[in-house]
Amino acid sequence: MKSVKVSENAYWVGSVDWTIRNFHGNTFKTSMGTTYNAYLLPGEKNVLIDTVAGHASGELFEKIEEHVPLERLDAVVMNHVETDHSGALPALLDRRPGIEVIGTKKCREGLSKHYFREMNFREVKTGDAAEFGKNTLRFIEAPMLHWPDSMFTYLEGDRVLFPNDAFGQHYASGGRFGDEAERCPLMEEAKKYYANILWPFSSLVLKKIEELLESGLEIRTVAPSHGVIWRENPLEIVELYRKWASQETLGKAVIVYETMWGATSEMARVISEGLIEAGAEVKLYDVNRCDLTAVFADMIDAAGWVVGSSTHDNSMLPGIAYFLHLLRGMKPSSRAAAAFGSFGWGGGAVREIEEVLEKTGARVFRPSFSAKYRMNEEEKKKCLEFGKAFAGEIIS
Ligand code: FEO
Repeated sequence: MKSVKVSENAYWVGSVDWTIRNFHGNTFKTSMGTTYNAYLLPGEKNVLIDTVAGHASGELFEKIEEHVPLERLDAVVMNHVETDHSGALPALLDRRPGIEVIGTKKCREGLSKHYFREMNFREVKTGDAAEFGKNTLRFIEAPMLHWPDSMFTYLEGDRVLFPNDAFGQHYASGGRFGDEAERCPLMEEAKKYYANILWPFSSLVLKKIEELLESGLEIRTVAPSHGVIWRENPLEIVELYRKWASQETLGKAVIVYETMWGATSEMARVISEGLIEAGAEVKLYDVNRCDLTAVFADMIDAAGWVVGSSTHDNSMLPGIAYFLHLLRGMKPSSRAAAAFGSFGWGGGAVREIEEVLEKTGARVFRPSFSAKYRMNEEEKKKCLEFGKAFAGEIIS
């Protein structure tokens, strides 16, 4: 794949990773692959914005050299330290020692703790600008979008925002622009990306969006570091981020459960029927037969979560424990949640689930629902009522 012109003065020089399926140590299932986007501003002075993952260094260098020899690069803007964007930096430093590296103070610290290399580093902060011939770059610190070092870079004139991880998607495609992609899967990937990567930082996302929109910077193109570039209606993705970060929810419940012999699974179905009868929208997942990355995307606009597990050795089952471990990290707010499950003698799973749900900050609906072994007809009726009562918590 060749480099692609993004704007009058900017070219995409990144890498498409079609086959990657696990990201972030297996916590994100990249079912559509991903891209590592880097951008070149060639001219009297040559500037690279971000690099790519280390394994794709060769691809990056080939695309840069369609325009300019590597040895003539003047500067590389490092918007983010994480190795999917900085992995090619050591090889770049080998080829072009002395290149100016531009980033935040935290970026300097982070790069030194990743690569242990001397660098000609220029620290920048929000409001700073740098001129490279005809191109002027402005910098906007964006801590925790996605790491403390993160930064946005804005290309004046062309009015392109390079926000690194923000507004990205793990979406591999032949076309580099959002308007060239199939819309439904693309937007689903954008939502998954927000839910699984940026949800924990929603309050900071909201503040950054307000700052961006009030800054007066006109944005014609949003060129993130993963997935497609937004050139048609570039503020659509910004508004979607504002919606997700605002934790706006629907009268929707997501049920996630794990079952040993089917009793908890039967409860999940009856609870779903109660919710549906009461007017709620429902999604139901067996934790061992689903992609949790997609489940979290479904949960972000759900007002209610219902989590179930059979009891095994006085505890919840391991798949649900893993799911709840990830959920705790999302730091959600303003959700109602409920627990259910079957047990044989002592129980324990439902109590454990409730404890973790409380730690997420969710409003835990009580009493929970549990039954010994399999539900009899009377218990099925109570289970249905449990679903209906929980619907009352999430439908206004
Ligand atoms: Fe795409 Fe935070 O790295």
